[in-house]
Amino acid sequence: MKNKKFALAVLLLGLCAPFGAPFVAPAPAQEAPKSTEAPKSTEAPPAPAALPEWAYPRLPPLAVFDAVVQKQMPGSSKRFTQAQIEDDFAPPDWYPEEHPPMPEVVAHGRPPAVRACMKCHLASGDGHPESSSIAGLPPAYFVRQLEAFKNGTRGNPRAGSMIPIAKAINAEEAQAAAAYFAALKPTVWITVVETATVPKSFIGQGAMRFPLPGNETEPIGNRVIELPRDVERAESRDAHSGFIANVPPGSIERGRVLVTSGGGKTLACAACHGAALRGEKDVPSIAGRAPQYVFRQLNDIKDGRRKGSDVEPMRPVVANLGAEDMIAIAAYLASRPQ
Ligand code: HEC
Ligand code: HEC
Repeated sequence: MKNKKFALAVLLLGLCAPFGAPFVAPAPAQEAPKSTEAPKSTEAPPAPAALPEWAYPRLPPLAVFDAVVQKQMPGSSKRFTQAQIEDDFAPPDWYPEEHPPMPEVVAHGRPPAVRACMKCHLASGDGHPESSSIAGLPPAYFVRQLEAFKNGTRGNPRAGSMIPIAKAINAEEAQAAAAYFAALKPTVWITVVETATVPKSFIGQGAMRFPLPGNETEPIGNRVIELPRDVERAESRDAHSGFIANVPPGSIERGRVLVTSGGGKTLACAACHGAALRGEKDVPSIAGRAPQYVFRQLNDIKDGRRKGSDVEPMRPVVANLGAEDMIAIAAYLASRPQ
């Protein structure tokens, strides 16, 4: 117990380290045991393929948020400071007149672990690329995902936000959230642009990608670079301002072939996701969703970070897809109407 506390303290100090001098003296380096024996053949298991940062952005150290300046968004009479915008249990609802009454769990969550859904997924359910759009998802699918985060069949570094929430949420709250979001119609949120070069960018607060100041560009390479249409509004969790998804040249057509015919590598998605790819029964929509999110899911299902009997139908779909195929599929899907 004591050891655990100590380890936690060291961990916390470690996390604080970037803000000041390190508090913990490094442990004395251990001398390697001397041996004359030939090293045993201890072939290390193959390291898991590194997860690309563009699709699995990591949270930077938490900033201190301004609690003075009252921000305002066009078309909203509300005012919030950035500190209020970042509140886990009372995030901003800029346009309360635009959505049906919100269940408590969506608006405020339940401390300490159930953070308000609308903080990351927004009151509109359109979410951000680094989280997920959840507007219009079938309730049965929605609740199954909370179960999956809870029981460990769905876990990638980005699911770190969802796991503690899913463990603490109760059945009534889960149902209420699922019903609220299922009733929302996704809005047009993402514009897909094919381009060989993109603005240089960085992962900022909340793991959102922002352009770097200075208007410098770089090759897009084998990535999707999703940037807010308006940085200030995206940072303010404004549900009226979407994203531009920059994708490699040629990916939309390449994705169209894979999605519509399988292209000899996969199965046509419409068979299960519906003719317009907007979902069918309790199979979710895949049209118009953030390419970063769709890529993460395909890649996770392929590598087993998302598993279990519910995703079994998806396994033959991803089995022969490489990263470029998944980028192309995600680009094409994002260009389809939601
Ligand atoms: C701190 C941010 C954050 C909060 C708060 C949050 N989520 Fe999430 N949520 C995420 C992220 C990130 C993902 C995507 C994980 C991944 O990439 O697999 C996600 C994914 C989901 C999904 C899966 C969507 C899909 O299409 O499969 C559901 C369902 C979901 N969240 C429901 C909720 C509910 C319900 C709440 C409130 C009780 C909530 N979330 C609160 C960050 C958050
Ligand atoms: C044989 C049926 C089937 C086919 C074909 C199929 N899917 Fe799926 N897909 C599913 C099911 C079922 C789920 C939901 C799994 C669950 O409940 O966890 C799913 C989930 C997904 C998800 C996760 C959605 C989310 O909200 O997290 C993505 C992305 C996806 N499919 C993409 C595709 C693409 C792209 C294709 C075509 C190349 C495709 N699927 C073809 C059955 C299928």
